[in-house]
Amino acid sequence: MKIYELETNLVLSVNDLKAETEVTGLENIDVKEVMNLLSSGNYDSFDEVIVDENTPDSVLEKFSQEHLHEDDEVRYFLSGNCIFDVRGSKDQWIRIEVSSKDFITVPKNLYHRFFALNKQAKALRLFTSDKGWVPIYRV
Ligand code: LAC
Ligand code: NI
Repeated sequence: MKIYELETNLVLSVNDLKAETEVTGLENIDVKEVMNLLSSGNYDSFDEVIVDENTPDSVLEKFSQEHLHEDDEVRYFLSGNCIFDVRGSKDQWIRIEVSSKDFITVPKNLYHRFFALNKQAKALRLFTSDKGWVPIYRV
């Protein structure tokens, strides 16, 4: 996981990221730990999302539009190189480069956008409620 301010290239640690945005980033997490989390009762359900050459550009376009959710966005990456940009306290973009074995929790109500580099990614999505996964786009 590599974290930096997009405009200044200032590098942040996962602790800096947490302090600035409340985003939790964990590295080198085994899938078994994710399964343990799932049985902890904090999560409602999960699924696997795959981005590949068959994924319509319209789907990726939606991911890349700045949005937020009313639930935490919790992802465990199985493969691929991806980018989460999240808004810092001064509304600046903070870029988080994630790859296999990275676990990230983007808190509810934090604006973000997502890119799957090379149109290739596999991730587990952990849901904290069954309210539905609704992006609310920034206007
Ligand atoms: C989502 C990510 C891509 O909302 O932000 O699924
Ligand atoms: Ni999102």
